[in-house]
Amino acid sequence: MHTILPNPSLHKPHNSPSFSCKILINPSKKNTITLPRRHTPPFLPPLLPPSSSPPPSPPPLAEPKIFPLKFEPPKLNPLQKLASLALDMLEKSVVTELEKKHKLNRTVDPEIQLEGNFAPVQECPVQHGLEVIGQIPSTLTGVYVRNGANPLFEPINGHHLFDGDGMIHAVKLDSVNNKASYSCRFIQTSRLVQEAALGRPVFPKPIGELHGHLGLARLLLFFARTRFGLVDATKGTGVANAGLVYFNGRLLAMSEDDLPYSVRITDDGDLETNGRYNFDGQIDDPLIAHPKVDPITGELYTLSYNVLKKPYLKFFKFDTCGNKSRDISISLQNPTMIHDFAITENHVIIPDYQVVFKLSEMLRGGSPVIHDPEKVSRFGVLSKDDHDESRIRWIEVPNCFCMHLWNAWEEINEDDDETLVIIGSCMSPPDSIFSGSDESLKSELSEIRLNLKTGKSTRRVIVSGMNLEAGQVNKNKLGRKTRYAFMAIADPWPKCSGLAKVDLVTGNVTKVLYGDEKFGGEPYFVPSTKEGKEDEGYLMSYVRDEMKEKSELVIVNASNMKQVALVKLPKRVPYGFHGTFVSSQDICNQSSC
Ligand SMILES: [Fe+2]
Repeated sequence: MHTILPNPSLHKPHNSPSFSCKILINPSKKNTITLPRRHTPPFLPPLLPPSSSPPPSPPPLAEPKIFPLKFEPPKLNPLQKLASLALDMLEKSVVTELEKKHKLNRTVDPEIQLEGNFAPVQECPVQHGLEVIGQIPSTLTGVYVRNGANPLFEPINGHHLFDGDGMIHAVKLDSVNNKASYSCRFIQTSRLVQEAALGRPVFPKPIGELHGHLGLARLLLFFARTRFGLVDATKGTGVANAGLVYFNGRLLAMSEDDLPYSVRITDDGDLETNGRYNFDGQIDDPLIAHPKVDPITGELYTLSYNVLKKPYLKFFKFDTCGNKSRDISISLQNPTMIHDFAITENHVIIPDYQVVFKLSEMLRGGSPVIHDPEKVSRFGVLSKDDHDESRIRWIEVPNCFCMHLWNAWEEINEDDDETLVIIGSCMSPPDSIFSGSDESLKSELSEIRLNLKTGKSTRRVIVSGMNLEAGQVNKNKLGRKTRYAFMAIADPWPKCSGLAKVDLVTGNVTKVLYGDEKFGGEPYFVPSTKEGKEDEGYLMSYVRDEMKEKSELVIVNASNMKQVALVKLPKRVPYGFHGTFVSSQDICNQSSC
């Protein structure tokens, strides 16, 4: 009944046990599955329920057992059944057949996007008693969580890495007993739950599928299915796969295509999706994946963008109790891709780059995400206290595209001019992660200075000859001047061969390289104390040994960049996006709903 091995042609072999049939199905449970007949074999088995009570601890590094969960398919009336059959037939015999004739570029080719350790895994209930080498620092008593894209189903056609369903990998660290446990769970988005119940993907993939006329056809199919009540888009269509932030008692998982999802960390170190979180009815717009928590005030600053209607961009914030400020609409000529922004002590800095959304490009057969060479990149500066955009100051920074901004602060320059300093990784070509440009991608750690008196900008590369992405500064210093940035060495792109501590003044780089055929991701920095030295704390990253096919969590002392501990993980952890650390105290203080 379950043909659940991935298409052999899709994956280059990595011999991961997570794709072996024998662990995808628990023989003792398989008769309980009553999913509808599938037209597309599911990539992964059905979701697992979060454990309500601690499971018995298996021996260290034992292969996790999988317990499929029954998802009820929707009950359809006769008209819906007819519509469903007709639309399925249209999709299979027309849209999918036409898609097969189109050659995919590498940015949306699933064979490339999901190759090796980018391939998805299945859920894993909590595994205790992991082997720990070295000593877990006392600072790290809590849970390290990292989000990533992990498609539940094998892609039908185009798939971009960013399109995958959100999955969080969690390692609970107990420094007193030097113990660690691991679990990973899908974020149970509305989209994921509906697709799991249907047994196949039906929601369009914004980057991988929505190209040209066939992208429009996919959109129309989706609208038709929503029209007949076969799928429900009113509860969001997002994947929640990019960012994680702990704020006001909630761990929030975000992608910029939807509201955040609230995820609860259990006492046992497992993860439960509480649901789509609208801040008690205060928001109904998507939030970007990188909100900023001001370390002094505790407020959460964020943006929301809309690619279809004005205002294309809104800014707002939440106080420490989660009360939202009023929206500030930001006037933009076109909807723009804004993945990240920055705050300083008194300002908010909003980028408006040349990478824009032009849905009309789809009619011409292209991607709706394009580089607009006529546009000049610029940064908008608002005061944190502004109530509308009337005082926003736009300063041009030509040909600048930073997917991420790591920090910003205020300075008085040598001419006594008030200046904002921004630290980001500038990508070139700017749209290469979307367009499939053959030009090799560069992501250079850079300093951008905005002179608020003259309205001029300057930009300099801090570290050249090395791709530095996926990083951060000490979060207790966010918005204030920092000396260091902790970055992933994103070479060979898009893999990360090590982590780097960068002195932003001198440009000196202290590296930790993982070793031959070993690659990690974003290093997450946990400061030891609030008042301590800026680099006093620890860096963590999941690392994959591609040769030995083992995954581990590496912990490095950021002061001297020496490894202090390593946790061996029982399962393959794919490369992913962003993480955070939730202390044991914050876990105790989580909201119960
Ligand atoms: Fe990001």
